[in-house]
Amino acid sequence: MGWNIVFVDDDPGVLEGLQRMLRSMRREWRMHFFPCAAEALAFLESEPVDVVVSDMRMPGLDGAEFLAHVKRHYPDAIRIALSGYADQELVLRAVRSAHQYLAKPCSPETLKGAIERVKALQALLGEKSLRAVVSDLEALPSLPSLYQEIMKELESEGASLKRVGEIIAKDVGMTAKILQLVNSAFFGLSRHVSHPAQAAVLLGLDTIRALVLSLHIFSQFEGKGFSEKDVSTLWEHSLVTAVYAKTIATSFGADRVVCEDAFMAGMLHDVGKLIFMQNLAEKTKLAMERSLQTGEPLWASEKAVIGTSHGEVGAYLLGVWGLPERIVEALAFHHFPSRCPHRQFSALTAVHAADFLHYAVAGGPPFQGLGLVDQEYLSDLGLLGRLKEWKEACQKAIVAE
Ligand SMILES: [Fe+2]
Ligand SMILES: [Fe+2]
Repeated sequence: MGWNIVFVDDDPGVLEGLQRMLRSMRREWRMHFFPCAAEALAFLESEPVDVVVSDMRMPGLDGAEFLAHVKRHYPDAIRIALSGYADQELVLRAVRSAHQYLAKPCSPETLKGAIERVKALQALLGEKSLRAVVSDLEALPSLPSLYQEIMKELESEGASLKRVGEIIAKDVGMTAKILQLVNSAFFGLSRHVSHPAQAAVLLGLDTIRALVLSLHIFSQFEGKGFSEKDVSTLWEHSLVTAVYAKTIATSFGADRVVCEDAFMAGMLHDVGKLIFMQNLAEKTKLAMERSLQTGEPLWASEKAVIGTSHGEVGAYLLGVWGLPERIVEALAFHHFPSRCPHRQFSALTAVHAADFLHYAVAGGPPFQGLGLVDQEYLSDLGLLGRLKEWKEACQKAIVAE
């Protein structure tokens, strides 16, 4: 059975154009085209749909309302907003329900690429119930102290964009959300951005204010049985892994883009843990206990208790949010990079080594279980012998921070 995809646009020209340009996909996809949201909703009631692609400006139910409805009733469907540049206000309203934004006019390659990527991600996270949990998430929680800090900064009259960018860059949840917005065609920014400070500059203070203060795109982590220490340990581990990964990429001589991606992927590599802690607290605690008792890596305990590991869950969310593939790949395979089809030095290589070295250098967070280095992968790349040198470079980098 092919993939079921729904397209909604009130402009008959656009709808016909979509139909024409996607004709070559009709063997793989079952596509349904509707001129208004009401008809699409009636169809959604009749059969399960994998992806919904919707125009924003429509008479009757508009795109933002339509996508919100889909989110509420069909949380595992992937929601893509197609919007023109004049639709900023509508796009803002859809910020909590759309996973990705594509700018109109949209080339067939862009649209096919976005849908194919989502399809590949579904294979990564097989279980439908977990996919529903993850695709229902609007945001990732922030460290309470950083959340308070950014609220204070944005509410103050002399708020500085630089300061805002710095706070976002320290927080795993804010970083992920802001990168989702700038990497989608949100506000017509269509280049890949991998640093939150740069993202903040591109969005501008007024937009960030609207997003955070009125649309509440950030939220605080709620304990649910996890101590403040558990949470801040995860943040610290993420920041250290980011610094290490960048150091490793630099010492390898990787180009600037790979070094920046390494930093960002290091920062985000364990977002899956955050998703688990916030949404599946009980099972997550069981997995942590099991890992501590048996000495097996945490990802293996998660697989046994929850059915999948934080690597896959984090990659699924950020992939569905449209973050660059090289970052998604680094998340998905950071525990066992030899399972990744690509064999060259990348952000994945740097993050895998950095994650491992955090244990080697500092003991790492106790609840993570022992991170084992993927010897096969590193020796394939001829890098196994460089761990010692990287370890020393990382030690120096963290002292310098
Ligand atoms: Fe991990
Ligand atoms: Fe980690």
